[in-house]
Amino acid sequence: MSTPSPAPLYDLNDGTRLPGVGLGTYPMDDAAAERAVAEALNAGYRLVDTAVRYGNEAGTGRGVRASGVPREEVVVATKLPGREHGYEQTLASFEESRQRLGLEYVDLYLIHWPLPRVDKYVDSWRAMVKLREEGVVRSIGVSNFTAAHVDRLERETGVLPSVNQVELHPLLPQAELRAQMAAKGVAVESWSPLGRKSDLLTSSAVAAVAEAHGRTPAQVVLRWHVQLGAVPIPKSGDPRRQRENLDVFGFELTEQEMAAIASGEQRRLGGDPDTHEEF
Ligand SMILES: NC(=O)c1ccc[n+]([C@@H]2O[C@H](COP(=O)([O-])OP(=O)(O)OC[C@H]3O[C@@H](n4cnc5c(N)ncnc54)[C@H](OP(=O)(O)O)[C@@H]3O)[C@@H](O)[C@H]2O)c1
Repeated sequence: MSTPSPAPLYDLNDGTRLPGVGLGTYPMDDAAAERAVAEALNAGYRLVDTAVRYGNEAGTGRGVRASGVPREEVVVATKLPGREHGYEQTLASFEESRQRLGLEYVDLYLIHWPLPRVDKYVDSWRAMVKLREEGVVRSIGVSNFTAAHVDRLERETGVLPSVNQVELHPLLPQAELRAQMAAKGVAVESWSPLGRKSDLLTSSAVAAVAEAHGRTPAQVVLRWHVQLGAVPIPKSGDPRRQRENLDVFGFELTEQEMAAIASGEQRRLGGDPDTHEEF
């Protein structure tokens, strides 16, 4: 199996850089995450995505160390769970994440969901700004935030996230949100980029584009993300599929192919950010 070239790096609004493709780790347990993260880093990945909620931060950290890839080359992202929103709770939760990961610093720390009903995400954000100032976090961001949630962070703290990780795939192309984030200089990461358990990868539209390029359905879908300027974080525990998913920088889709890939039924596969509660 050949090693694909590493993904290009995007500049974030805080001066750090984000690799153009990452590895998702949900729903791996610690042992599976350790193996998958080490394999992915050896295959050329430089971004790994975990969360308190996934229960695999320890395995993810072990995988980073086992890979032998220099720590400064790897972007490790984790997320604050809903049950730990609030200023002091966020500081304490972060320290627990850092210990479980076994890392001196975390590259990217995200608020997992806004939980508007709980209404504490601004307090958490202030704590994350402090963690960044202290140097234990390099970049701070959010996940599942609407433009209104991001606007509120900016209005009340003066600090914009560097990243917003949202549900994004050809069944939910998020054109409006992507434009809003681009206008603010907030990078977008795509979760469930392959449409997780949907029939996206077996759709005839995706199959036709894949055949035209001599690529797999997953590769043309991931290339679709890259050409939108979004960073996909596909999950795979399979070394062959991990490599396949990283090898998406050597071909280009036409405008018609971009449109055809996203021409099917449009629907969310996960929760609505305004109401979803994940603790
Ligand atoms: N922030 C959030 O709220 C949130 C929510 C959901 C997910 N996420 C993050 O986003 C990551 C990715 O999302 P996801 O896991 O929901 O969905 P996904 O990456 O769209 O899909 C994962 C599924 O696709 C399969 N797969 C991977 N590569 C493939 C390929 N080349 N060909 C065919 N099948 C392939 C995987 O199976 P194998 O493992 O067997 O290859 C797995 O069943 C998660 O792991 C997590 O890190 C974040």
